[in-house]
Amino acid sequence: MNYMPRIGDLAPDFETLTTTGKLSLSEYGKDSWVILFSHPADFTPVCTTEMTGFALEKDFFAANNTKLLGLSIDSIHAHIAWVNAVYEKTGVLFEFPIIADIDMKISKLYGMLQPSESETAAVRAVFIIDPNRKVRLLMYYPLNVGRNMEEIKRALIALQTSDANSCAMPLNWKAGEKVIVPAPKTVDTLLERKASDLEMVDWYLAKRNL
Ligand code: BEZ
Repeated sequence: MNYMPRIGDLAPDFETLTTTGKLSLSEYGKDSWVILFSHPADFTPVCTTEMTGFALEKDFFAANNTKLLGLSIDSIHAHIAWVNAVYEKTGVLFEFPIIADIDMKISKLYGMLQPSESETAAVRAVFIIDPNRKVRLLMYYPLNVGRNMEEIKRALIALQTSDANSCAMPLNWKAGEKVIVPAPKTVDTLLERKASDLEMVDWYLAKRNL
């Protein structure tokens, strides 16, 4: 089986050629979150909708200290031609860098090449990487199913909110909703909790507003 970074691992660093020039992950992600995502191929319909979706959320990601980094196993020339074609047809410009992973090095490093699905195209992977370059969340979708932009945004905000408030997020949590408070680990904190005004389903499951 191919290597695949997992949740909590240091995201493997790399230096590569992209549509905005040469970059390394460590420099690009210095002091910011990075969403590294792969798509199977340029000039394909599902990929075009996804890349357009990322481009349209430019302000959201910038406002949340997050940089985008796309990838496919295509050449820089193919990337540039695709960026140009979409821009001319729709007015949407893919401003974030797109890696030309023509030698498949990064796709293999991140388990994006899943040969039972395709020998030559990366699957639709998403890695959410924090400012310490730690992999915090990953998603993998097959070639024929586009991702859900709302879920990508929700997951990013959930991670950032959890870090800032030492809490966890319940099923379907959205920004602005109550969060889960870590369960008490001592009898004293249990009694404190019982006397609190937290929304409590049971002693180990309590929620609070932020
Ligand atoms: C697409 O983006 O439409 C696509 C790419 C590769 C395989 C199937 C669909």
